[in-house]
Amino acid sequence: MRLVFLGPPGVGKGTQAERLSKHYRIPHIATGDILRKAMADKTPVGLEAKSFIDAGKLVPDEVIINIIRERLKEPDTKSGYVLDGFPRTLHQAEALSRTLEQRHEEIDRVLYFELGEEELVRRIAGRRSCPSCQKIYHTTFNPPPKEGSCTCGTALIQRKDDRPETVKERLAVYRNETSPLIEYYKKQGRLSQIDANESVDAVAERVQDAILQNKSS
Ligand code: AP5
Ligand code: MG
Repeated sequence: MRLVFLGPPGVGKGTQAERLSKHYRIPHIATGDILRKAMADKTPVGLEAKSFIDAGKLVPDEVIINIIRERLKEPDTKSGYVLDGFPRTLHQAEALSRTLEQRHEEIDRVLYFELGEEELVRRIAGRRSCPSCQKIYHTTFNPPPKEGSCTCGTALIQRKDDRPETVKERLAVYRNETSPLIEYYKKQGRLSQIDANESVDAVAERVQDAILQNKSS
């Protein structure tokens, strides 16, 4: 099963992708997580990406497309994957389509998560992440068992790009550069719209429904 998770910052893509990836035993490929790890490791890609991420801008397409091309070469992608946060521009979507064509593969479904801006901001403001295993928490909606600490024992952090002024920019970038992908995938008949304004469990059920519906159609 090959899936794309599309939607604005803070909508819950990472939260749902993490669950789905465990359930179906397919890798969760999140460009944001890959870039944050590259920044922490101070690799050339990480150093290049840092100024874009800190400003809430998109990292240049060619950098991202290369990351995905390399990641898709790993053997664990044979039985499928969930792409979280990629593609994010039309150029990236077209590059993905070309890469998949060469592999004789197709995206089965694009799940588009929808939520109002006020709630997005509330989710982002309370988000805490594990820099080690990437697990995502929320101070109110999904608190860790021990305050400030991941179940893996690592101290939780607040993402630097979750500062209010950066969030504003990320939302604008999403509207201008990423939202055209909704129409792009709708035209291809691959899009399922998910109302994300429910609990994590309820949204997970909608995700399952969308996938199962696709399998039976
Ligand atoms: P990235 O890391 O992909 O960030 P994003 O798309 O902005 O999305 P988020 O990770 O902020 O939100 P999410 O939808 O995953 O929500 P989450 O599950 O965490 O990208 C970061 C940066 O990297 C970009 O700005 C860009 O610079 C660069 N980048 C990445 N990919 C790129 C690309 N393809 N091209 C160019 N640049 C790229 O949930 C949010 C919070 O809500 C959590 O606290 C969670 O616990 C809580 N929550 C989740 N679901 C629910 C629910 N149902 N009810 C209540 N709370 C919930
Ligand atoms: Mg995420």
